[in-house]
Amino acid sequence: MPFAEGNEKAGEKLFKTRCASCHTVEKGGSSKTGPNLNGLFGRVSGQGTDSFSYSDASKKAAVSWGEQTLFDYLENPKKFMPGTKMAFGGLKKDKDRNDLITYLKKSTS
Ligand code: HEC
Repeated sequence: MPFAEGNEKAGEKLFKTRCASCHTVEKGGSSKTGPNLNGLFGRVSGQGTDSFSYSDASKKAAVSWGEQTLFDYLENPKKFMPGTKMAFGGLKKDKDRNDLITYLKKSTS
């Protein structure tokens, strides 16, 4: 499935309930269990912030983050990136991923 523009508000809600326990999005935000996601789009996996220790899997994968790679990754992170230490089962609904990525585009830039 290709990414399609979604609902930003619904995406924000999803982020708060599913991602915010481990990630922040604002510039200079702290890294928690997962890295701060500011500046995510156009960045290569595993290089986000010095304040976070990425897995070798994520550095070696060298995925260029954008709408489509995030859409595929978030469906099933461990399948897309074997060895990643992101302990998240995935968002199975295409609509949820579209909404979330639409929110991430705005909130991380
Ligand atoms: C239980 C904590 C946890 C949850 C929940 C979680 N993540 Fe993560 N996330 C991580 C960790 C840890 C990493 C680093 C993975 C690695 O180094 O292998 C990561 C990495 C990422 C990356 C790659 C960042 C980079 O700079 O390469 C993205 C994008 C991401 N997460 C998005 C999300 C989104 C969106 C959600 C919600 C749907 C989410 N994560 C839920 C812990 C989490």
